[in-house]
Amino acid sequence: MEFFLDTANIDEIRSANKQGLLDGVTTNPTLLSREGGDWREQAKAICTEVKGPVSLEVVGETAAEMVAEAEDLMKFGQHVVIKIPMTSEGLIATKILSQKGIKTNVTLIFSPLQALLAAKAGATYVSPFVGRLDDIVVEGMELVSQIRTIFDNYGYETKIIVASIRSPLHVLDSALEGADVATIPYKVISSLVKHPLTDKGLAAFNADWAKLTGK
Ligand code: E4P
Repeated sequence: MEFFLDTANIDEIRSANKQGLLDGVTTNPTLLSREGGDWREQAKAICTEVKGPVSLEVVGETAAEMVAEAEDLMKFGQHVVIKIPMTSEGLIATKILSQKGIKTNVTLIFSPLQALLAAKAGATYVSPFVGRLDDIVVEGMELVSQIRTIFDNYGYETKIIVASIRSPLHVLDSALEGADVATIPYKVISSLVKHPLTDKGLAAFNADWAKLTGK
């Protein structure tokens, strides 16, 4: 399973990259606005740092506006993926962009049929939002499982990015369900390395070594 970082923060991206954990990045208007400043400069810095796919989201409402924005966003680099909201106009834009060979990530997916529509329109990726479903007491990972089954039933190559991840358990469940990608907030990705028994075991090894060597 690929790990994308769900952030627009360049320090977080650099840190995950250094640890070899970064296969790509997803941003959205909220994440970019959280960073403040000039979003273009921010997007440029991200696309320079990241060698894998970087999702940049369009904000237009009509397909024509989305396609025009996508053409502008593609100037940030060949590995840019155009993130498009799951709307009727978004599907039209997805189809147009896919015919032009431009990669798309259809976002704000909350039902398996929305994912199927996006795949039929030629989406490269779909992003089911598991955390936001959990928030309303709907099992988010069940959505991922249903999308996996549908895509496998019909041989769709559209990749599943599990989005709106809130905990390490979401990452584990994404891998168990056969998701292609998990897009993970920095706080969660940093916590994956930790285990109290690792810390305890390391402390014991160090103490025993100090006894043996006197250091
Ligand atoms: C997906 O690509 C979105 O950027 C993101 O995962 C949304 O997560 P949130 O529900 O924590 O805002």
